[in-house]
Amino acid sequence: MTVEAFDAVEVIAAKRDGHRLSTAQINWVIDAYTRGTVADEQMAALAMAIFINDMEPEEIADWTQAMIASGQRMDFSSLSRPTSDKHSTGGVGDKITLPLAPLVAVFDVAVPQLSGRGLGHTGGTLDKLESIPGWRADLDNAEILRQLEEVGAVICAAGSGLAPADRKLYALRDTTSTVECIPLIASSIMSKKIAEGTAGLVLDVKVGSGAFMKDLDTARRLARTMVDLGTGAGVRTSALLTDMSTPLGLTVGNALEVRESLEVLAGGGPADVVDLTVALAEEMLRLAGRSDVDVRAALADGRAMDVWKKMIRAQHGDPDAPLPRAEHTEVVTAPATGVLSHLDALAVGVASWRLGAGRARKEDPVQSVAGIELHSKPGDTVTAGQPLLTLHTATPERFPRAVDALEDAVEIDGDTSGLRDSVVLETIT
Ligand code: URA
Repeated sequence: MTVEAFDAVEVIAAKRDGHRLSTAQINWVIDAYTRGTVADEQMAALAMAIFINDMEPEEIADWTQAMIASGQRMDFSSLSRPTSDKHSTGGVGDKITLPLAPLVAVFDVAVPQLSGRGLGHTGGTLDKLESIPGWRADLDNAEILRQLEEVGAVICAAGSGLAPADRKLYALRDTTSTVECIPLIASSIMSKKIAEGTAGLVLDVKVGSGAFMKDLDTARRLARTMVDLGTGAGVRTSALLTDMSTPLGLTVGNALEVRESLEVLAGGGPADVVDLTVALAEEMLRLAGRSDVDVRAALADGRAMDVWKKMIRAQHGDPDAPLPRAEHTEVVTAPATGVLSHLDALAVGVASWRLGAGRARKEDPVQSVAGIELHSKPGDTVTAGQPLLTLHTATPERFPRAVDALEDAVEIDGDTSGLRDSVVLETIT
């Protein structure tokens, strides 16, 4: 029988009483939880104690390292090019990874984007790409390395071997109201990204109604914590704080967002999506030592599109096949004439989820075709009765609940002081 180094009850009591946990306590509790010796209810109590009493920077770094040590680490040191990746804390209409990964790869920087599926109102990158006929999310490590060497960019499912402690803990936090906690979010995200083995990492920390972080101060604290964790672990890390008070671009939902990403790769697309793609690409390239390149030109002249096509084909997708379209649509019109002062990201995200674009539980299927098209953005002048949103779904019985979610989403001629000129609010290095 293994003699355990600590007692879970004592570790929980220490955090409950506001004490700092030692490196040895943290290493033990994460390992014992992964092994199943620490029970779910004990980890749930500890997570709540952390939620209430916070953690010091050293504790967060130890917690992150212990979660990394619970699984395997990828190693890209054999590649002939440097690696740089991006992680978004999640938003509505956030399709940026799709044009970004091939764009960065144009400049001989490899992008190992190991992604997840969407949960709740934020969409998952893999769900979006799975609307492309034939496309495969699951690659083994040898396939990932080969694709990075040959194409330069890969977007695929993160294997279950990376930070398994986080996988277990994140599911538990989801059911115990302990998700919105900076030490736990920062260690969860960074354990996966550090285990992924990228040399450079840009964090896109979303701020606003559609994001985890509703205000700038909390977003700044999360960004600072993650940048320090990455830098402390030897990953060149920086963060952009970006606006998520309204959806990004003009589409929300899987196939709709792929269509918009293709517009960006063809040199067009909505300005906020293009600007954020370019800002993140420039930052990823800077971290990889490539600051002297014209990123916008690679969108305009088709080089990023060429890499996209290779990337999709390498994963058995057909980049030229038509994307699926919804059989049923319903239009929501502007209730008044004036300046659209607010179009709420969270409400649009929830409505799109109710149309079938997102899932409530990990194992739920998603509809490729479901989602919402925006016809106006905050700051535009609209006329009463003109189409504001088009809702898409394969299952029209979903329309009423989606329309309910949008009840307070639209504000016309309200306070315009919150309208932002730029989607990028701050950079943290
Ligand atoms: N995303 C993660 O991976 N972990 C969190 O805790 C929150 C968002």
